Amino acid sequence: MCGIVGYIGDKNSVPILISGLKRLEYRGYDSAGISVLDSDRCSIIKSKGKVSILEKKVIEHKLNGTVGIGHTRWATHGEPNEINAHPHSNEDGTLTLIHNGIIENYSTLKKTLQKRGVTFKSETDSEVIVHLIDSFLKKGHNFFQSVRYALNSLEGTYGVAVIYSKEPDKIIVARKGSPLVIGIGDEENFIASDVNAIVAYTSQVVYLEDDEIAEIYRDRFNARTIKDIEAVKEVVELEMAADEVDKGGFEHFMLKEIMEQPESVFNAMRGRLLFEDGISKLGGLKGFEQKIADSERIIISACGTSWHAALVGEYMLEQFCEVPVEVDYASEFRYRNPIIKKTDTLIFISQSGETADTLAAMREAKRKGALVLGVCNVVGSSIARESQAGVYIHAGPEIGVASTKAFTAQLIVLALITLMVGRHKSLSLVDGQNIIREIQSLPEKIKKILSLNSEIEKIAEKFKDAKNFLYLGRGYNFPVALEGALKLKEISYIHAEGYPAAEMKHGPIALIDENMPAVFIAPKDSVYDKVISNIEEVRARKGRIIAIASENDNKIDSLVEYSIKIPDTIRMLMPILSVIPLQMLAYHIAVKRGLNVDQPRNLAKSVTVE
Ligand code: AGP
Ligand code: GLU
Repeated sequence: MCGIVGYIGDKNSVPILISGLKRLEYRGYDSAGISVLDSDRCSIIKSKGKVSILEKKVIEHKLNGTVGIGHTRWATHGEPNEINAHPHSNEDGTLTLIHNGIIENYSTLKKTLQKRGVTFKSETDSEVIVHLIDSFLKKGHNFFQSVRYALNSLEGTYGVAVIYSKEPDKIIVARKGSPLVIGIGDEENFIASDVNAIVAYTSQVVYLEDDEIAEIYRDRFNARTIKDIEAVKEVVELEMAADEVDKGGFEHFMLKEIMEQPESVFNAMRGRLLFEDGISKLGGLKGFEQKIADSERIIISACGTSWHAALVGEYMLEQFCEVPVEVDYASEFRYRNPIIKKTDTLIFISQSGETADTLAAMREAKRKGALVLGVCNVVGSSIARESQAGVYIHAGPEIGVASTKAFTAQLIVLALITLMVGRHKSLSLVDGQNIIREIQSLPEKIKKILSLNSEIEKIAEKFKDAKNFLYLGRGYNFPVALEGALKLKEISYIHAEGYPAAEMKHGPIALIDENMPAVFIAPKDSVYDKVISNIEEVRARKGRIIAIASENDNKIDSLVEYSIKIPDTIRMLMPILSVIPLQMLAYHIAVKRGLNVDQPRNLAKSVTVE
């Protein structure tokens, strides 16, 4: 949700904090702030809006200090303004804190503190933490113990970082439900909510676990549990390069990420296909293959775009693996009484690996004794670490808030899981090899689709002022319709609905008139003729039609206003191709409407609150 960054060492922390915040801005960005230690107090500078505004202020104030913390906020309690922006401080300004998450019992704590005479400046839940720590300091406890006692009184989730001018040699960090990582440098250390913020400075990191608290000095750190038991931590070497998080010459991260798909799709399959045996090899599932194949039911759970990938996974697994598959919104899963058996396998899909709803659903499934697998992009993320086994999608950092390359890489991994399970069951060698051949041909086909960029841009120009959009598809392309509509909604703020093409006549058809664009995903597959009938139904009501069609389909041109022709593949892999023109269409429409595609309003890249 928000971004956290911190530095302790011999250098001026300010430029390090600002550059870290810029790299975290995609996570949440209604306001930002930093605090550095100088002499006997902590200076704070905050601003509403982008980090670049904060940067200007910081330069004007000539802020300087070798210990500092910074935050980008995505408001949950209190409107996004300068007062509510983090860091928050105690009354005498000796203690400052940044927080990611939600404190559920904040109003009770706030009332108690107010009764004791504490004055609050902001409307945030976070501010109670800093006053609570202060109250323990006033009772004579040291900094570390005061933070620990305060955290023990909190209900909810937090990633926090705190500095205190009377113990200026350390930053204290802790986590419960929100990510926090320590970056180890040479005579300097870093902290961040996401390695993207610090990868330019170090590749050695330590992931904090839930209920852990650590004191970070410039030359060492010391981690304990919130119950004050020593925590043994392992230093992990990151493989990510700093330039992976740059725009690489593209105008937006989203466009860069769309254009990267030939490589990201290849990376998702690289080294994982064994043609001779017509099977996939997934290191992260080693030892679990048979158990997965024997499961009586597979449940896939996720949110947003990852949930759309889960729907495609359902079609794949049911077609090739003779296993009943259910797909669940992670946000709903925990609030029913899901009937989970020990013979079930649950797959949780998450780009970030930190989505609170998905993480909570995963923990619930684990508690019920099922086999729990994770399909994540971010290495070392909470879902990746807490699942019993899993597969990384290897899409590389996805910065654009609208997910693109993670979706196609998730579909590759689901296809590989299908291949693995199918071959443990009745899928023949020849069929397995055919799937492999098709998977391997995808990067070249994606390149061909990407070459249609300027053609799609022209179509975007024609439709950029539409008020509504319908996206329609059947079978494997129904989830693609949902994903196309989500992409458009997220970044262009145009209302869009995805629907199974045949369901249209049961309601949405009433919306169709000469102003309603309908995007049909209509490749030549087993439901092609039926989709053509649905196209006719829209035509008869003067709707404006854009079709995503097979490159050898000449018939469709006479039925639609615009057709975007894409290469063919087998049905199970079609969504990996058919979604790409929809990503490009949404992108160009949003750019033409003058919107901030990488950081759409109200959204955050990883949603770490429920
Ligand atoms: C995708 O474009 C969205 N921004 C959003 O729906 C996202 O897919 C969802 O929040 C799930 O995120 P995750 O994959 O990181 O768990
Ligand atoms: N709940 C806190 C707030 O509203 C933190 C939000 C965040 O994680 O950015 O300020």
